Amino acid sequence: MILDIEAGDILPAKDAIALMDQTDLGPSIDVPEIPENAHPENITEEEREFLQGEVRRLKKERNALILAHNYVPRDIQDVSDVIGDSLFLAQQGAASDADYLVEPSVLFMNQILAALKKPHQTVLAPSLEALCSLAAHADVTKIRDWKEEHPDGIVISYVNTYLEVKAESDYCCASANAGKVTLHILENSGAKQPILFLPDVFLGFYAAKLLESKGHSLDRLHLMMGACHVHERIRPHHVLEQQQLHPEAITVVHPECGCTSACMRQVNEGIVPEDMLQFRSTQGMIKLVEEVPHPEVIVATEVGNLHPMSKAVPDKTLIPASREALCAYMKQNTLQNLYECLRDLKHEITVDPELARRARIPIERMLEIV
Ligand code: 13P
Ligand code: SF4
Repeated sequence: MILDIEAGDILPAKDAIALMDQTDLGPSIDVPEIPENAHPENITEEEREFLQGEVRRLKKERNALILAHNYVPRDIQDVSDVIGDSLFLAQQGAASDADYLVEPSVLFMNQILAALKKPHQTVLAPSLEALCSLAAHADVTKIRDWKEEHPDGIVISYVNTYLEVKAESDYCCASANAGKVTLHILENSGAKQPILFLPDVFLGFYAAKLLESKGHSLDRLHLMMGACHVHERIRPHHVLEQQQLHPEAITVVHPECGCTSACMRQVNEGIVPEDMLQFRSTQGMIKLVEEVPHPEVIVATEVGNLHPMSKAVPDKTLIPASREALCAYMKQNTLQNLYECLRDLKHEITVDPELARRARIPIERMLEIV
């Protein structure tokens, strides 16, 4: 057993799975403070009305489309044209002809729009502090080393990666289509071709289980030991406590969570019926709560997702598995800096054209396999 490992290392899947629940996968970059005005309760009704009115006026004047991720503060979601998960935002951004694509989210999502945009379009981000601890774990030199060792290998990058990493990848996937992309690769590759899934080890575990369930060996799979510091801290005990308090509730888990393997075990061992514990992307969670009859839902993801979920099902009780699951990067987006972004046309997100050309190949594959 390999013991001396750090976040971002690449391991054979079986070793990664054995170690993922015991390894410190904390962030390798600073986590910023959440600005006071990211909390809706710190904005007066007068300020909210002024800022939201200005955002609506300016987006019309600029011919801008505002694409907000499900985790950004709710005051922003309420003035956005598109709200969704990373896959949906990429799809909608790519389909738009607006002059400005304004995306309150995080840098790796902004970069996708910048790589896909049409020549007349400009991509703007309200804050340049909106990074991602998971994307920071994906060290491009480790990926290049793996590719040198495995010249026939296939690299699947989760969407939470920067453009340099995507440019080294064969496929991208989002949480909404990680299973489908992995299956597509299994069906379209040699039986022994090595596969590297990166950077999220919990999502990688989820893909590995899918591989096993289709009768494939894990021997060809390698995983990167990366994690999101918000989701990794949603541990099995958080979910168990809520399940005990709400025995009738259905549980829905984002597969980046630190409780992913324990939750899967609950299902595999028959402790919880399969229909009572589901894995979904942030957008998939919204769809699920609309579809199921259960009045109570335990939600294991960043708490911002409760806003679009509760809008979709206002009569249901949504219970966060952990109230502390807050992404300080997403919360760098505020109504104030969204207003300034539209007013001053900042911050423009640009990408190196050659890097964008290479990254578009795996990104476009991700957009096709849905
Ligand atoms: P989704 O693709 O499910 O929106 O996830 C993106 C993300 O950053 C989750 O933390
Ligand atoms: Fe990145 Fe985690 Fe924030 Fe998602 S919740 S943007 S994975 S740090």
